[in-house]
Amino acid sequence: MKHFINLKDIPANDLRNILIDAKKRKIARKKLDNLEIDKGAPLKGKLLIQMFEKSSLRTRLSFYLAIKQLGGSTLTLRPDELHLSKGGESIEDTAKILSNFGNAFMLRTDSDQKLEEFKKYLSIPIINGLSPSSHATQVLSDVFTVEEIKKKPISKLKISWIGDSNNVLNSLIAASIKFSFELNIGCPKKYHPDKNILSYIKKNSNKIFLHDDVKKAALGADVIFSDKVISMNDKVNKTKKINHFKKFRINKKLMSFAKKDCIFLHCLPRGKEVDEEVFSSKQSKVWQQALNRVHVQKSILLYCFGKLR
Ligand code: CP
Ligand code: NVA
Repeated sequence: MKHFINLKDIPANDLRNILIDAKKRKIARKKLDNLEIDKGAPLKGKLLIQMFEKSSLRTRLSFYLAIKQLGGSTLTLRPDELHLSKGGESIEDTAKILSNFGNAFMLRTDSDQKLEEFKKYLSIPIINGLSPSSHATQVLSDVFTVEEIKKKPISKLKISWIGDSNNVLNSLIAASIKFSFELNIGCPKKYHPDKNILSYIKKNSNKIFLHDDVKKAALGADVIFSDKVISMNDKVNKTKKINHFKKFRINKKLMSFAKKDCIFLHCLPRGKEVDEEVFSSKQSKVWQQALNRVHVQKSILLYCFGKLR
């Protein structure tokens, strides 16, 4: 049994094996409909319990399809209906019940500590469905999308992130270290990653660069990533922050500094950080990116169950 919380804590080989499995599975089920089950139904009889303490569309749907396609099933708990959310039950006891009734637990939460506490008391795998510090399932799937479109290992590509220092960027930084790709981050100085992340970069990479000049961040890029300037529950003065990111908006002009065949990716939902012209252009691969989450999360589930081929 394995947990899937942060990319930085998972061996690079394991991450690569997940992607290899996802590629094989995606090809093998080309002609199957959404709810048809993969050959061999590897997770037959297994129940994935999901809980979202924050909004979600893609993660919810993609985990639903992922476990169904592996032959298992899922149940989504509403946090406001649990004793836990009202202080009426401990994480320890909740975890014990989840472990007895289910086979894996996927949690989207506003507390990294909560994930760790659940991990301590669960005897089933826990998967991080987004936390303040990480969005690991998203970014692993994004590596898959990049390699699928570019038909090259990501280590041979120049990746750019233009946007806030948030959970998605933290996971992209970890991915850059695990998969050894160049990452150029374009972000106003005031919003650069915090000192823990900076020291993680310093210790582990010479391929990650920070730019206050947005053009430099986009220069020669094979892929440009972005995300909302204001993340869920971001406790800031929103107008001020959006204003600080004015020059970091992804528009046609900025895309022209990247390679001609540069693609645009965004985990969604979007805000105003990207112009409609770019978002709906041929370079934008955001819908393919969103759908790939199903395929990669299936292999993440199999990894957690120790059933990766
Ligand atoms: N990208 C992503 O995680 O989307 P949701 O918040 O809709 O799940
Ligand atoms: N950074 C965004 C990602 C949403 C999928 C957030 O945390 O709100």
